[in-house]
Amino acid sequence: QSKKLFPYNIVLVGFMGTGKSTVGRDLSRKLEMGCRDTDAMIQEKAGMSIKEIFKKFGEAHFRKLEKEVVAEVSQLKNTIIFCGGGVVLKEENVENLRQNGKIILLTAQPETLYERISQDDTRPVLKGQMSLEGIRSLLKQRNQAYNDSADVAIQTDDKSVDEISTQIITKL
Ligand code: S3P
Repeated sequence: QSKKLFPYNIVLVGFMGTGKSTVGRDLSRKLEMGCRDTDAMIQEKAGMSIKEIFKKFGEAHFRKLEKEVVAEVSQLKNTIIFCGGGVVLKEENVENLRQNGKIILLTAQPETLYERISQDDTRPVLKGQMSLEGIRSLLKQRNQAYNDSADVAIQTDDKSVDEISTQIITKL
C-alpha cells in the first residue's frame, strides 16, 4: 500500500485490551506510516508511569495531560495514532482527533478483554475491580461514547493482528 492513499490520520480507539497498540504498530509497518502512542507521550511528559500519575496526582490530572497530548497529535497528518481507552470520554478529544483523522473503534467481548488484561496491573482505572463484572460495568458506562466516536468499528475477538489490520485497511 502506498502511504499516499492515506492522507489523513488513522486513529485507534477502544477499551483496554482491544489491541489498539498492537494493531497500531502492525498498521504502521504495513502502511509505512509513522505512529504515536498517546499513553507513551503522557508518560514522557510526566516523567513517570501512568500508574504513578494516577497515584500521585489522580485521574483528573491524567485526563488533563491526555487532553493536551490528544490536541497535539490531532495536528499531525498521515500518522497512526493509538489512544488510551479513556480518550473518547471527552467530546473535545474526539472532535480534535476527527479533524485530520478517521476514527477506528476496536471492540471485543468482556470475556475476551478479561483474558487479555486481567494479568496486567499497569491499568489503574480497573484497579480493585479487575474482574469480568468490573469490565462489563465500565464497558456499559463507556459504550455510548465509543460508538459515537467511531467512523468504523472492528470486532477483534478470535482474529489475528494481521486479520484486524487487513480489515481496517479495506474499510478505510
Ligand atoms: C485507560 C486506558 C489506558 C490508559 C489509562 C486509562 C482508560 O490505556 O490510558 O490507564 O481509562 O481506559 P489502554 O487502553 O492502552 O490500556
